[in-house]
Amino acid sequence: FSLASLNTFRLPARARHYLRVIGAAQLDAVRADAALAALPRLVLGGGSNMLFTRDFDGIVLHMAGLGKEVLGNEDGRILVRAQAGENWHAFVQWTLAQGLGGLENLSLIPGTVGAAPIQNVGAYGTETKDVFHSLTAYDMATGTVATLDAAACRFGYRDSIFKHPEGSELVVLDVTFALPAGWQPNLRYAELARAVADSGLDAPTPLDVGRTVEAIRRRKLPDPAEIGNAGSFFKNPVVSSAACAQLLAHYPELVHHTQPDGSEKLAAGWLIDQCGWKGRALGAAGVYPKQALVLVNLGDARGEDVVRLARAIQADVAARYGVQLEPEPVFI
Ligand code: EPU
Repeated sequence: FSLASLNTFRLPARARHYLRVIGAAQLDAVRADAALAALPRLVLGGGSNMLFTRDFDGIVLHMAGLGKEVLGNEDGRILVRAQAGENWHAFVQWTLAQGLGGLENLSLIPGTVGAAPIQNVGAYGTETKDVFHSLTAYDMATGTVATLDAAACRFGYRDSIFKHPEGSELVVLDVTFALPAGWQPNLRYAELARAVADSGLDAPTPLDVGRTVEAIRRRKLPDPAEIGNAGSFFKNPVVSSAACAQLLAHYPELVHHTQPDGSEKLAAGWLIDQCGWKGRALGAAGVYPKQALVLVNLGDARGEDVVRLARAIQADVAARYGVQLEPEPVFI
């Protein structure tokens, strides 16, 4: 089964088995079939955070359940639930169209609702965990369905329990978000605050902020429908305040943000840019000219082309800044 159209990098890869999953019943069926149950599994949403370096000799579970609903109020928040297969941006738009704010900073992120909690997707000062209520997950190990709250999901920067062995058997079926009833725009991200101010609106609505986020993203991020990519290819590295101070002594322009615990998050895009990689290519894999953190498929790249480019970038950044960049997408 070809996975080329199921990953936004558009890398060629095949899977031994493929199953479109719309609910728990199909996962029960996989568990009940000894041959299928024994296979390695890969849970796939929009395929927007995956790097296929070879064929997958197992079963792909493509989460395709649809449906979204407003559940009602709870503690001054409005609960909305969507099935895992819903397109993320369409879901965000659907909430904004009803005047419900909270998800607008996460506009235009590729992928599905079910994938959002996996890597705690975040942008422009909002992370999934900030608007998360709970989710329903199917446990492939036991065949049971459980509800996980935010604490159980163990969210971190681009991280959650689902990326660790303890959560590797859990398949997200649906996600419930808690949106604030008394909405205030989150303009902590300087670039977004500036853009909203420039729009001249006195009282921007959630929809206005969402449109502003879309405009910023369209300016610097490639549309996967046009150029294969998986968004940010590396996480922004977090270093100690001492290490950051040392770097600043040599590189006063270094872009860094102090974290609540005193550590410093560095802008990986800046580091890569400074190493001269922006707009460069190695074979059919390239660095996006408008945002150095995004690697792109220039046409007929294979997974190994992207890996080779990523390794070269990591080596340069490590040699110059002593900082190890960690890839964000899941390597298959
Ligand atoms: N920068 C450069 N050169 C570049 C790219 C960035 O100098 O080529 C500098 C920028 O000038 C800025 C800083 O690096 O001072 C940060 O850049 P930007 O605001 O574009 O954000 P980012 O840190 O590169 C992160 C997320 C994005 C998210 C944006 C906005 C990660 C790994 N990436 O990027 O998420 O949209 O912030 O919040 O945290 C994604 O995960 O796929 C993604 C796109």
